[in-house]
Amino acid sequence: LGDVATQGLEALARTRGLEAYPTPFLAIDLDVLDRNLGKMQGFFSERHARVRPHVKSHKCTAIARLQLAAGAVGVTCATTDEVAAMVGAGIDDVLLANVVVDALRIGRLVQSARSARVTVAADSSEVVAAYSAAAVEAGATLGVVVDYDVGMHRNGVETVEEGLALGEEIATSPGLELRGVMAYEGHLVAIEDRAERSAAALLAFAEPLALLHELRLRGHAAPMLTGSSSATHDSTGALSEMTDVQAGTYALMDANYRRLAPEFEPGVVVVASVLTARAGGALVLDAGIKRLSVDWGKSKLLGYAAEHRYTAEEHCVFRHLDGPLPRVGERVALLVGHVCTTMSLYRSALGCRGGELECVLEIDGRDPLA
Ligand SMILES: Cc1ncc(COP(=O)(O)O)c(C=O)c1O
Repeated sequence: LGDVATQGLEALARTRGLEAYPTPFLAIDLDVLDRNLGKMQGFFSERHARVRPHVKSHKCTAIARLQLAAGAVGVTCATTDEVAAMVGAGIDDVLLANVVVDALRIGRLVQSARSARVTVAADSSEVVAAYSAAAVEAGATLGVVVDYDVGMHRNGVETVEEGLALGEEIATSPGLELRGVMAYEGHLVAIEDRAERSAAALLAFAEPLALLHELRLRGHAAPMLTGSSSATHDSTGALSEMTDVQAGTYALMDANYRRLAPEFEPGVVVVASVLTARAGGALVLDAGIKRLSVDWGKSKLLGYAAEHRYTAEEHCVFRHLDGPLPRVGERVALLVGHVCTTMSLYRSALGCRGGELECVLEIDGRDPLA
């Protein structure tokens, strides 16, 4: 890659203290993390919306606390396990930007809502009824946002009328509080041209905005409009009605997302050992799919000219191109292709600062059964 941001990451593999840990493992540059958090907070310091980081990207309560300390208003989660971990760690304002149907999971969610301000997404009468029954049984108040499908075709109501009807249902259901509208423009995040991406994302928010206004016209407080991402925080996040920006990847960044949001630096690597090193031939590392996700983009070997060939269960296979060749047994740094799915493959990560191991970060928001 050769840019300044990744040069520091090469050195992460050689951080003092890491030699006590067998490869492969995750190493995080805490200085980079701090800079990314500061940059995102800085962008919103004079804007209406607040940052509500999506912790699905790291599933780590310690990193979430750093995000709050940097100025985040609360956190966004993707699963009830993440919600339980965040609330258990004392974070008192949590959005679950997802729909939940499993009765046991709804049960856990309303338990979390007994001790924290918890808000969840809904897109059907069935889930609203299930949330309401569980909240009443637990004696909790559960906040709900109407999830609006702006084109990703995952969850969400599809018209303003549908959203209004659901909003009325939420507002009149015992145990629930209508908190507003959520919309996630995930299908637009990877548009390469930033101006084109911004224009498409802003256009996508016309309907959720119309729904929000209509709900307010009908007398609902509906204070929240939440959505956006690391790659669109500067467009949808800057909307005057946006309240909570759900950016996730910006905190640690990765090889693939970086082209979409280059203002954030990659801050995490998988440290692996070289198993095979042949000049102009195979360069094989001891980290495979079980430690390195392959769903979105390839991992990049830092510090050496090598082309990724494939990732197997326990091996990542490159072809050495030219220049220096690492030694067999040498520890090298891999910039991960997709940070969110790689983090969830580990129980902990090693936090480094200034060439020293500083702490072990527990990735404690994972599903305990997974
Ligand atoms: C519901 C939701 N909101 C926001 C995001 C934005 O995350 P990122 O900043 O990683 O693109 C995601 C990403 O998957 C998401 O699923």
